[in-house]
Amino acid sequence: MIREFDTPLMKEMRGHRSIRQYKPDRLPAGMVQAIISSAQMASTSSFLQFYSVVAVEDVGRKDRLAELCGNQEHIRQCPIFLVFCADVHRLKRVCEREGTRIQTKHVESFLIATVDAALLAQNVALAAESLGLGIVFIGGIRSRPREVIAELELPDLVFPITGMCLGYPAVDPPRKPRLPLPAVLHCERYQTEEIDTHLDAYDERIIGLEMFEHLETGEVYGWMARAARRMAYADPERLRVDVGPVLRQQGFGLE
Ligand SMILES: Cc1cc2nc3c(=O)[nH]c(=O)nc-3n(C[C@H](O)[C@H](O)[C@H](O)COP(=O)(O)O)c2cc1C
Repeated sequence: MIREFDTPLMKEMRGHRSIRQYKPDRLPAGMVQAIISSAQMASTSSFLQFYSVVAVEDVGRKDRLAELCGNQEHIRQCPIFLVFCADVHRLKRVCEREGTRIQTKHVESFLIATVDAALLAQNVALAAESLGLGIVFIGGIRSRPREVIAELELPDLVFPITGMCLGYPAVDPPRKPRLPLPAVLHCERYQTEEIDTHLDAYDERIIGLEMFEHLETGEVYGWMARAARRMAYADPERLRVDVGPVLRQQGFGLE
């Protein structure tokens, strides 16, 4: 019933899976440019286009970024690694040229730029997948933001939001089913009453698929056990405690 409305694009979206192993093949000349220019048509807050992308192909630089992102091998392996940045620097330049004073002390300006960069990134993912490429987002780009900013020479008011590996898939991993629709789509008002019912149904499905297994005991566990552990990480590196201070250092206020 839900799928009766599926367009070719929606079918493509349902086929998404993150790719963490790539063939060594490079992308044809101009493909990345085509992907990013089409993705630029994403909606953008107030038509201000608060983003920049740094495309990294240099082997040495990818190797250093892989290390900074928690030693993620797929960053070394993919032919091209993109870093999506919230970018208010260019708009500061616009204000200087136009003789106005930019306001960046409130958290809202960082939030706007983050939303814009994320919309661009997801459009890039869709365009890339439609061309037969595989992608994986890399939030690890925020693990050591100081070093990433130095490596990519990001100016003030620019902050790396997410990385993305891009390349031809060497594997075809199974799709990970998402939460049941009624858990996510609320009618008219947020409905807390049914949360547990949806969670139980989802956990049962995920356990049935044997997606998560303890390395030592082989015991199968569900999405909730995994999510609860993930949400309780306490060590500073995993909590990325540097993000706030480095944002301030880059000139973003968090008032
Ligand atoms: C903002 C963001 C950051 C992510 N960071 C990483 C990452 O650093 N490393 C990684 O291997 N996957 C990363 N992922 C991929 C998720 O783990 C993946 O999307 C999720 O497990 C769902 O799997 P699927 O994309 O195959 O459906 C990230 C995804 C998003 C949206």
